[in-house]
Amino acid sequence: MKTMEWKDNKLILVDQRKLPDKLSYFVCDNYNDVIVAIKTMVVRGAPAIGVAAAFGVALAQLDGENMRKVAEEIKASRPTAVNLFWAVDRVLASDNPVDEAIAMYHEDIDTNLAIGRNGAEIISDGDTILTHCNAGALACVDYGTALGVVRSAFHQDKKINVICDETRPVGQGARLSVWELQQENIPVKLIPDVAAGYLMQQGKINKVVIGADRVAKDGIVNKIGSLMVALSANRFHVPFYVAAPLSTFDHEISIYDTEIEERNPEEVLYYGGCRIAPKGTEVINPAFDIVPSDLITGIITEKGIIDPNKFQDFFQKLKYK
Ligand code: MRU
Repeated sequence: MKTMEWKDNKLILVDQRKLPDKLSYFVCDNYNDVIVAIKTMVVRGAPAIGVAAAFGVALAQLDGENMRKVAEEIKASRPTAVNLFWAVDRVLASDNPVDEAIAMYHEDIDTNLAIGRNGAEIISDGDTILTHCNAGALACVDYGTALGVVRSAFHQDKKINVICDETRPVGQGARLSVWELQQENIPVKLIPDVAAGYLMQQGKINKVVIGADRVAKDGIVNKIGSLMVALSANRFHVPFYVAAPLSTFDHEISIYDTEIEERNPEEVLYYGGCRIAPKGTEVINPAFDIVPSDLITGIITEKGIIDPNKFQDFFQKLKYK
């Protein structure tokens, strides 16, 4: 099973809140179920949110809902990943929302395979690759962006090791990336987020490959902690790559104009169901942070690897937009 399936006019999602303990499913019968799934992170990761949102619009059409109203409601579910907005607008503009959502589902897989192929070129035999959060199959329909690069290099028989940041507070690295890599016997070790700088200082990490929720003209927005990883990588001369599809690009805006989602304080106050701070503690819980272009070595896309300082040239060549 992939991260999601469309079956009998229902969207079936792997319930990522339950992993790694239990592989279970969350069935969306209507667009409201999709909104709940996105808000509560049953489904998460920029490309997966985008495709799930597309199916949400398709469900609304099948139920004869007011599509424009539904589109606004779905867009309000999570503010940061641009794929959500891109997907809703694309399906809304199509003649047949169900067919369009299904097309996007298949495109997502092809795109990730292409990102994987392009990205494998920068991975050398013997590399230890650090990744943050989960930009894997679970963050997409299948295969993954950052973990797609890892998968592709591994399947080319390159001897690689992966290090996953646990990614507090929600633990996407520990719960999802480690689980995903273990399913395929790709060598993986888990570290606390705070150990990444030390390991780079010790020369134990050769490359960083992470995903993005938005690629803007002057950098990227990704899971909270990405900035600290990028700063350490820069200090210790470790190449820092971002793997993202063009559907994550919002290349006319600045990273500083992106809305950064602030999530529930309980994510920080509790760990594994146990309270870890005194009652009444105030919390700041931004879900994402901002990595400026000068800290990024390259952005791996389905169309090739881009120098983040040469976006305009890239888009001119693609005649994208
Ligand atoms: O809050 P999440 O789990 O949705 O955040 C996910 C990330 O930050 C990923 O790195 C990003 O969406 C890229 S997924 C290919």
